[in-house]
Amino acid sequence: KPRTFSGIQPSGELHLGNYLGAIKNWVAEQEHYENFFCIVDQHAITVPQDPKLLRERTCSLFALYLACGLSLEHCVLFVQSHVAAHTELAWLFNTITPMNWAERMIQYKEKKEKQGEETSVGLFSYPILQAADILLYQPKFVPVGEDQRQHIELSRDIARRFNDRFGEVFRIPEALIREEGARVMSLTDGTRKMSKSDPSDLSRIHLLDDADTVRKKIQKCKTDPIRGITFDDPARPEANNLLTIYRLTSGKSKEAVAAECADMGWGQFKPLLADSVIAALEPIQKHYHELWNNPDHLLHLMRENAAKARTIANQTLQTARDAMGFLPA
Ligand code: TYM
Repeated sequence: KPRTFSGIQPSGELHLGNYLGAIKNWVAEQEHYENFFCIVDQHAITVPQDPKLLRERTCSLFALYLACGLSLEHCVLFVQSHVAAHTELAWLFNTITPMNWAERMIQYKEKKEKQGEETSVGLFSYPILQAADILLYQPKFVPVGEDQRQHIELSRDIARRFNDRFGEVFRIPEALIREEGARVMSLTDGTRKMSKSDPSDLSRIHLLDDADTVRKKIQKCKTDPIRGITFDDPARPEANNLLTIYRLTSGKSKEAVAAECADMGWGQFKPLLADSVIAALEPIQKHYHELWNNPDHLLHLMRENAAKARTIANQTLQTARDAMGFLPA
């Protein structure tokens, strides 16, 4: 089976964008691949994190991976900082990556804007650590949402450059971006992506939001004054986004949803959308709370999976070290 690798930062609560753009597709296709899904805690610390919250969110994200339906039969689920090879390979890559490749990264430029003088060296070399994450596992595919395309492109460039200089060590991976859900937008502005770092909680639905919260957020979300809810109208980004969320959470086809909602007013559509989102989240939340009640079991699984990841990562790291001319330790 072809291998996949992907990761999510434990930097905030998981939201519908992460779910519909990434995890839901991972779950749906997991049987066709040998999967590695990582919780990238070392990426999270490239902007300030509270240590207690980071610990909690890392563990919570591990439970959510399982609760969303990722199976340990098909997936290795692990925490980045448990596998030291990631940061070691990132250092090697730092030395072969031109500054201007990293300077071009859109996510870096956006975050730098917010961090200002506090922007860390880590934030700058963030995508180089991401390249190390991916390339250590020699995956064929990297399933992600649209916003990660540029980072995967950089990983490919770094792999090529390493191979050119030191011999064929790394497989060149491909981004796997499913059109469905690739870009879930904010509830308060249909032209911006739903994001963990948006200061407004109302802009996103968290996977662990209870039914009342989901209803309230959808009640308050931005709409437009037009009657009849339609897909793909560039003048109506909110309508397209909310309809897409309805389609993906209900499992209905685009045609069916288009026909169902063509003549609806917002007052009729919003409760329908809320019901659909709540129904999609309910089984995930139930499973999550069961897992959360047994933290020892979660920690045990985490260690066991880290050991599996470590074995593969260390093999690749060893080859890269040899190729670059390091003496064996
Ligand atoms: P992160 O944690 O921001 O997001 C995790 C995944 O969710 C997707 N995503 C979205 N998809 C659709 N609509 C949205 N609004 C939306 N917001 C987020 C992202 O595309 C991603 O697939 N740099 C990565 C983490 C990372 C990584 C890796 C990913 C580190 N190492 C190696 C892949 C491979 C990030 O910040 O994702």
